[in-house]
Order: sequence, then C-alpha cells, then structure tokens
Amino acid sequence: MTDKSVLLIIGGGIAAYKSLFLIRELARRGVKTRAIITRSGTEFVTPLSVGALTGETVFTDLFDLTQEAEMGHIELSRSTDLVVVAPATADLMAKAVNGLANDLASTTLLATDKRVLYAPAMNVRMWDHPATQRNVATLRDEGALFVGPDEGDMACGEYGLGRMAEPEAIADAIEAALSGETHLDGLKKKPLKNKHILITAGPTREPIDPVRYLSNHSSGKQGYAIAAACAELGADVTLVSGPVSLKSPANVKTVNIETAKEMLKACEKALPADVFISVAAVADWRPSSQSGKKIKKDGKGVPPLMLEENPDILSTLSKHKKRPGLVIGFAAETNDVVKHAKAKLKKKACDWIVANDVSGDVMGGDNNSMILITKNGEDHWPMESKLSAARRLATKISETLS
Ligand code: CTP
Repeated sequence: MTDKSVLLIIGGGIAAYKSLFLIRELARRGVKTRAIITRSGTEFVTPLSVGALTGETVFTDLFDLTQEAEMGHIELSRSTDLVVVAPATADLMAKAVNGLANDLASTTLLATDKRVLYAPAMNVRMWDHPATQRNVATLRDEGALFVGPDEGDMACGEYGLGRMAEPEAIADAIEAALSGETHLDGLKKKPLKNKHILITAGPTREPIDPVRYLSNHSSGKQGYAIAAACAELGADVTLVSGPVSLKSPANVKTVNIETAKEMLKACEKALPADVFISVAAVADWRPSSQSGKKIKKDGKGVPPLMLEENPDILSTLSKHKKRPGLVIGFAAETNDVVKHAKAKLKKKACDWIVANDVSGDVMGGDNNSMILITKNGEDHWPMESKLSAARRLATKISETLS
C-alpha cells in the first residue's frame, strides 16, 4: 500500500501510547501519517515523540493553523485518505455525534469529507453506558468504521470491553479501508446476505494414544480471517475448525473438531451451502490404530507407527450430491506453486483454488500473498495482512455470486 495517508487524531487516554506503535506499523506498510493530538492527549504523548515518528508537523490546539503551519483545519481534514481516531474517547465520539466543534480535533471531524475510523478506548462501564452505545450506533449508521474495543484488563484495574484494539489490528482495519471502496460498500450493502458459506480452518489432530497425536503447524489465522470477512459481508458462516488458539469471529457459527474424520462429518452435516472454502490443513494420514492407553516405553525399541490415509474433505464435497455452487480449495506449496495448485484444482474438482507459497513464514504468520486461480486465469494479490487478503477473497466471492 503506497501513496496513501491518514490523519490520526490522538485522544486523551492511557491507550495513546499505542498510537505511537500504530504510526510505526503504518509506516512499515507504506502509509503516511499526519497527527492531531487533543489537549488531553498531550498529557499522555508529546507532540515531539509523535512528530519524530510521523516526520511531519504535529497539530495541537496550541498551534495557530493559519500562522504556524500554513494549513487551515478544513484543508487538514481533507488532504488525507482516511481520518483515524485512536484512542477514540467517549468524549470525542459524543462531540462527533453532536457536531460540536470547540477544539481542533472536533472541528476536523465536523469539517472532513473523508471516512472516519474509530478505535475506542475507555473504561468498561463508560463503554457499556447507553449514551456511548447510542453514540457508537449513530456514528456507525452515518458510515463511520470501528475497530475494537477489545476485552481485557484495563489500566484502571477493571476487566472488560474497552481496551483499544492492538496497533496491528487498527493497521489492518486502516489497510482494508484504504484498499478501496468495494469492501466498505459491501459492509453497508451486505452482498452475501442469505448465503451460507462453509469454511474449514486450522489443522486436524490425529491421535496415536490419549496423550500423543500427529498434526501440523497450521494456526487457523487465514481461515478465521476468511470467516470474519464473509460474515462482515452478511453471510451465514459455518466455520469447522481444528484445534487452534483463536477466538470464534463475530457472527460466525464455529464447530470445533479434532480429527479429519470429524471435520468431514461436521461439514456434511452443515450442508447445504452456497460456497465451500477449504482452508484447513487436514492431516493427510492418521495412525491405523489408536491405543486406548498411553503407549509405554517397554525397552524393546520404538513402537511401529502404521498410517492410513484420511478422507479428502475438499474432494468429497466437490463430488457430493449436495455440492455447494462454488467450491474453493487452498494449495499450500513450497515450490512450483502455480503448477501444483493448478493440478490440485483439477484433481479435486474445485472451481477456484487459492495458491499459497508456504516456504516462508506464511504458516502461523500474520501476512499472506495469495494467488487466486480460476478456470479463467490467475490473479496475483500483494503480500498483505491475512484479514486484508480474506476481505479481497470475500469481495471476489460476492461479485461472483451476484
Ligand atoms: N484437503 C482436504 N482434505 C485432505 C487434504 C487436503 O480437504 N485430507 C484440502 C485442503 O483444505 C486444501 C486442499 O485440499 O483446500 C489442498 O491441500 P494441500 O495440503 O495443499 O494438499 P494435499 O491434498 O494434502 O496434497 P499434498 O500434501 O500432496 O500437497
């Protein structure tokens, strides 16, 4: 992502320190930041540290915009691609809802013609308060975007919803907002409404005995991100997941399983579906027999481990009598990526296949560069966060189904 810029409004809250990391993360992704710090924000971070990271003049109420920076607030609010409020305090959101303009941050929010993304941060009771919830709902209805808040321990010693989203998550949301209006449009229009999308994710675990198993390094991140992205566009999502340490995405029905056989059974039970996306790294083999008791070292050497092949879930659903209308496979390859992926597309009788080069740190990592292969050709997507890649795929699916 290059040539894009955001105007970051840093509100007054302990989470303001995370905005410094956000600026660095955005710079890493090629997004320029210009910042405004509210008066109370300057109690938490200084214009000096923010300016050092953005490499730009930092605006506060202490500046006279016409004299010192030669830029009026109208121009400041418009010469950007996106306005980001992080941390977004209850006060800043209330001002925005009511159109108050008594300082630089609120004036900018009133004057901008750009979309605004809020990353709320506040005490759990303030977040839960009907006034805040009302304000958030109004801002959303008016087209504002939100990321977080997260649940967790708070600086004030309480626990709950109200922690500002992590800088990487905010950067993901910014990237998605900047990567075109299509997805944003989709967020409003919900083009996948009434579509049932079945997704598999994560590894499977094939037990050897009650304490040992065969598995692989899949983290489930890509599959979960795709489930989240489809749900964002209004789909009814069933996510059949192997053991991972991820939270079920919002508005997604997650079915947890362990083995490949259980995954197949859960998928067949979830049919019919309009789309099937097979992201799981299904273990290819399972031990032919499973000991009911822990296998002991008996001094007679290593126990033999006989394997048998697991069912191929993608192939089974591709040929199923209740075959979903659009079947999408994934191909994890370390070499000759496109060639192997095309062979899998044919062999597994799917409609599309997403090729993944897993020779680097894609498996378990946060970023991915996907190649979408259909019968009409190849589409090479950039290296981006797994959520951005997922949103690209979800948008593509919605365009195809409509
Ligand atoms: N897949 C599946 N069931 C299996 C194995 C794979 O549904 N038992 C699906 C995966 O979810 C993915 C696609 O098949 O969508 C390709 O998986 P991949 O691991 O890349 O290929 P394999 O079929 O396992 O072939 P190989 O290991 O030889 O590359």
